[in-house]
Amino acid sequence: MVSPIRFLMCAPDHYDVDYVINPWMEGNIHKSSRDRAVEQWNKLYKVIKDHAIVDLVTPAKGWPDMVFTANAGLVLGENVVLSRFLHKERQGEEPYFQQWFENNGYNVQVLPKDLPFEGAGDALLDREGRWLWAGYGFRSELDSHPYLAKWLDIEVISLRLIDDRFYHLDTCFCPLANGYLLYYPGAFDSYSNRVIEMRVALEKRIAIEEKDAVNFACNAVNIDHIVIMNKASDELKLKLAEVGFQVIETPLTEFLKAGGASKCLTLRVTEPVREEVHATTQVESRIIRLEGHLLDAGLINRALDLIVDMGGSFQVLNFNLGEQRQSTSAAEVKVSAPSHDVMEGIFSNLIDLGAVDLPQDEKDAKLEPVLQAGVAPDDFYVSTIYPTEVRINGLWFKVENQRMDGAIAISQTPNGMVAKCKILRDLEIGEQVVVDVQGIRSIRKTESREQRNAQEFSFMSSGVSSEKRVELVVEQVAWELRKIRDAGGKVVVTAGPVVIHTGGGEHLARLIREGYVQGLLGGNAIAVHDIEQNMMGTSLGVDMKRGIAVRGGHRHHLKVINAIRRFGSIARAVDGGVITGGVMYECVKNDIPFVLAGSIRDDGPLPDTQMNLILAQQEYTKIIQGAEMILMLSSMLHSIGVGNMTPAGVRMVCVDINPAVVTKLSDRGSVESIGVVTDVGLFLSLLIQQLDKLTSPYVSNIG
Ligand code: ARG
Repeated sequence: MVSPIRFLMCAPDHYDVDYVINPWMEGNIHKSSRDRAVEQWNKLYKVIKDHAIVDLVTPAKGWPDMVFTANAGLVLGENVVLSRFLHKERQGEEPYFQQWFENNGYNVQVLPKDLPFEGAGDALLDREGRWLWAGYGFRSELDSHPYLAKWLDIEVISLRLIDDRFYHLDTCFCPLANGYLLYYPGAFDSYSNRVIEMRVALEKRIAIEEKDAVNFACNAVNIDHIVIMNKASDELKLKLAEVGFQVIETPLTEFLKAGGASKCLTLRVTEPVREEVHATTQVESRIIRLEGHLLDAGLINRALDLIVDMGGSFQVLNFNLGEQRQSTSAAEVKVSAPSHDVMEGIFSNLIDLGAVDLPQDEKDAKLEPVLQAGVAPDDFYVSTIYPTEVRINGLWFKVENQRMDGAIAISQTPNGMVAKCKILRDLEIGEQVVVDVQGIRSIRKTESREQRNAQEFSFMSSGVSSEKRVELVVEQVAWELRKIRDAGGKVVVTAGPVVIHTGGGEHLARLIREGYVQGLLGGNAIAVHDIEQNMMGTSLGVDMKRGIAVRGGHRHHLKVINAIRRFGSIARAVDGGVITGGVMYECVKNDIPFVLAGSIRDDGPLPDTQMNLILAQQEYTKIIQGAEMILMLSSMLHSIGVGNMTPAGVRMVCVDINPAVVTKLSDRGSVESIGVVTDVGLFLSLLIQQLDKLTSPYVSNIG
């Protein structure tokens, strides 16, 4: 029986593997056998002819991949969107296919130049005609999808391909009759997998394994209950049989060498139109402008990489290269995303890099009211460490109290509109919160190269140092500490008990005594061990001079806690002469404010320890205010806590023996943070030595 379905094929007269434009072609140049290719193609031709009508397009010499007629274009009803091949190796096929479509009465739509789209290789109609699945990521541009929707008047669902072996949608995805779907989930990003799962019910999804996928099992031709493919495992055949499909295998190994199989070798040219379906697409585009040292600072690469990594695509519309070393560059980039959600994700990251809308596209920020105290609207914009501005009634407002992981709350005050970063729990009913990613920009300084190098820890911006570089870091930190002290600036230290265990206590005490530290943050333990060391010579029961455990020493710290509790506070214990030296002693003696934030595991605690964590966070924030540098010494908990509260522009130096802690902090993406993986006691001792070397005081000539 022959159904009225028609396919277009092209005989392999000129077929060969002549070049490499996909991973299957690698190592296969001129390795396919012409005779076998002809024989395999003829077999496929016959099989398809048993079930449908086959039209032929005349092969053209010099265009070996023309056999893959799936890539001629995409047909729906009378309309066809002609392919625009990505690679020049195939672009010459376009006029031949165009001719064929025109000769056969199709209405041919031609995409703008430089907008690749590879036809039915990357766009597959739901077999019920309900919508069009369209792939992007390798051969076809996401920006072609809105054209497909418009010209074919159908809903387009965009799917992102991420495995280059499955570079065309039809290599890993095959809609079947009755709403079934044969596909290889590994070829798609997680977002696309979710989209697929939302559209196709579990019992209709036939997910195949890699072993079948690499045999091009998804590259199948489906005619009613028949599925024609190169090869299928027994399991797959069984699975398909269970839902009423019969697999016909026809070997196409010679064509696999070029990265194609049965579906690629055919183009279905009769696709019925469903009257009730109409054009829609979730694809969104937005043009951004980036300015600064786009090349030197690698900003443009980061922007483009993140767009693609997050599932979007881009087109650089303009790039104005700064000619002089000092001049900045500007770029205009069209960003496209498969949906608003994805666009939001991409855009919030681009904002961090300083991306802005074109002036004519600028819009006010979207605001939604706080309806429940301490709870933001769902789609709230999550703040970052970078100085941010929001646009309200056409004016840009600077956001106060910049910090990461907050919401931006807008309130009307007697002095006008105020925008503030607030942590969720502090949001109040009546405030408006910025949602979505519109009308938000972050201000990035664009210093010249020279300035940048002088102002930042230039030798390893946000990198993690190896042991060898510790000395370099120490030199630079010492220099900065000296400079900040002499200029009357502010340095805050967060410290964990390890500072004491590793013998760093005396060095930290000296830093405080000599005026290098203006605030100390930690937990109960740093204070307990510091005082224990001062009062008993041990840290958690270990003799600090001999490095061995003292008999009964494990009780020392409890004795110490008890003693301080008797006095009511560390300061009173210092006054009472019980504590005669050490980190806490120096803080008290030198009027350096400290906050000890409690935790569930604290013994005691010391009377000074703030066990109300909300208050502790508030007290921390106060101490950090105005700091130019924060030295984070071996305390994962307190350092990360502090990192979250700190805006960009504050230099953070994180010293920890555990690389994970260091990386976590430098991952904030701020160039001002550096990490040192080393023993903190050693670091502090080197730092003191270096400070001693800087004998002549630095005289600041700024300000
Ligand atoms: N060598 C061809 C290419 O890389 C193979 C095309 C396969 N066609 C397909 N619809 N997947 O373009």
